Amino acid sequence: MRKTTEAATEKRTNRLISLAEVEHLAVDQVQNLYRRYVNRSQVRLMTSFGFGQDLVDRAEGAFLYTRGGRRILDLTGGVGVLNHGHNHPRILAARQRFQQEQRMEVHKTYFSPYLAALGHNLAQVLPGDLNMSFLPNSGAEAVEGAVKLAFKYHGGRRSRILRADISFHGKLLGSGGLTGGAQSHFAFPTIPGIGTFRYDDLQSVRTAVADLRRKNGRSDVYAIIVEPFSASTMQWCSGEFLRGLRDLCAAEDIVLIFDEIYTGWGKTGTMFYFMRYPELVPDILTTSKSFGGGKSSISAFVAREPVFRKAYDNMTDAMLQSTSTTYYGFGEETATALEAVAIAVEDDFPGRARALERVLAPGLEHIRKTYPDVVADIRGAGALFGVFLAGGPRVLDMLGKLPAQGPVGDPLLRTKIITSAVVNALYRDHGIYTYYTLNGRSPLVVSPPLVAEPADVERFLNALDATLAQGMARLVTRFVRERVSTLW
Ligand SMILES: Cc1ncc(COP(=O)(O)O)c(C=O)c1O
Repeated sequence: MRKTTEAATEKRTNRLISLAEVEHLAVDQVQNLYRRYVNRSQVRLMTSFGFGQDLVDRAEGAFLYTRGGRRILDLTGGVGVLNHGHNHPRILAARQRFQQEQRMEVHKTYFSPYLAALGHNLAQVLPGDLNMSFLPNSGAEAVEGAVKLAFKYHGGRRSRILRADISFHGKLLGSGGLTGGAQSHFAFPTIPGIGTFRYDDLQSVRTAVADLRRKNGRSDVYAIIVEPFSASTMQWCSGEFLRGLRDLCAAEDIVLIFDEIYTGWGKTGTMFYFMRYPELVPDILTTSKSFGGGKSSISAFVAREPVFRKAYDNMTDAMLQSTSTTYYGFGEETATALEAVAIAVEDDFPGRARALERVLAPGLEHIRKTYPDVVADIRGAGALFGVFLAGGPRVLDMLGKLPAQGPVGDPLLRTKIITSAVVNALYRDHGIYTYYTLNGRSPLVVSPPLVAEPADVERFLNALDATLAQGMARLVTRFVRERVSTLW
């Protein structure tokens, strides 16, 4: 108790850190502030895997400039946020214009021209009658908004929703529960009635739907949600599956939700992954990430007009669709998204992704053939690929035999160590920033922003080749030697 009081006193007498001072904090000072005021174990975990050792001073296009003066090629894609690269000049200009004109940010009882125009533009980009938009802040909110809409469409008369066994839909209580697979080792409560089908397996969906038929013959399923391309596992649904799912949902009046929060705005070589299949239209589409142009925290769920109208188009229910907090459809966020969409269309982001793929896909395939013992698989589309690494020194076999404790309990620890070894070598030796997913089989992710050039991708391929040529045992030994002091 006394200790707590002393800490509180110390806290009260501490002066505030100014914005100007923040720009001069050293990396160890920032880590210490994280330890003290954010999350001590997060610092331990990140630094154990070799991350968080530098601070970034400036970011532009496909490049980061560190405090230490290094120029780093950023191929992480900002987990889907950075199709436009860092600080795209048109995005900055749109925001500056909004600020200089002192536009209004909050508009509860005024209509927003930005929000109206953004809804219009989304409808122009998307196929069919995907016309009706709502604009929360995050992907998880968009997912939950889509699910709410589907539930309301059925007037609460159906109680089940189906999701795929491999899927990522967010981390809020609802979207977290809809996320399939072992994404979290702790079971939080969630929305009721979630069922599971096997990803890309139409028969599995048919069986799940048949099992949930009521005595009167009607389906009890109000929605099916799926990622047409799963960025966290680098798996995707076949056209046959997606079309079959569309037909099944139409026949059973089930609301079909495509979650393209990660894969939108050109990333996989079409504006949205599902758009490579003409005439295929979900009932609701979710998007976020690069929708905000790398600056704005904004998402959308866009519904087919008849689905939206049946759910909410009356005076009593008109305000029920909100899933967000105070913050939704704010001025500068929507102005930024308007510009982000315009850039994706005018600069042909899908075409740019395909141009990068033409270098990346054969280059990675060549590397897989050159190093068959350590490159187990290469998967991806457009400017989003995963390199699945294997092998490593035999001493790593020991990991499976140690008692589970912290990271040691993670069945993917071996993969994470070897992949971190490669990620760290690319960063240190070649100034190239990649990462690995925490989900699925934890591939090393190569996700160039769509403002990158094919030459940037070639540079990456040469660096990966030179790195793997060192041999996995050597890479891991170097990595572990550097990290072992902080791992436990
Ligand atoms: C497919 C998909 N859905 C939903 C989400 C959740 O988005 P957010 O993290 O903005 O809540 C993500 C985030 O990575 C995603 O990739």
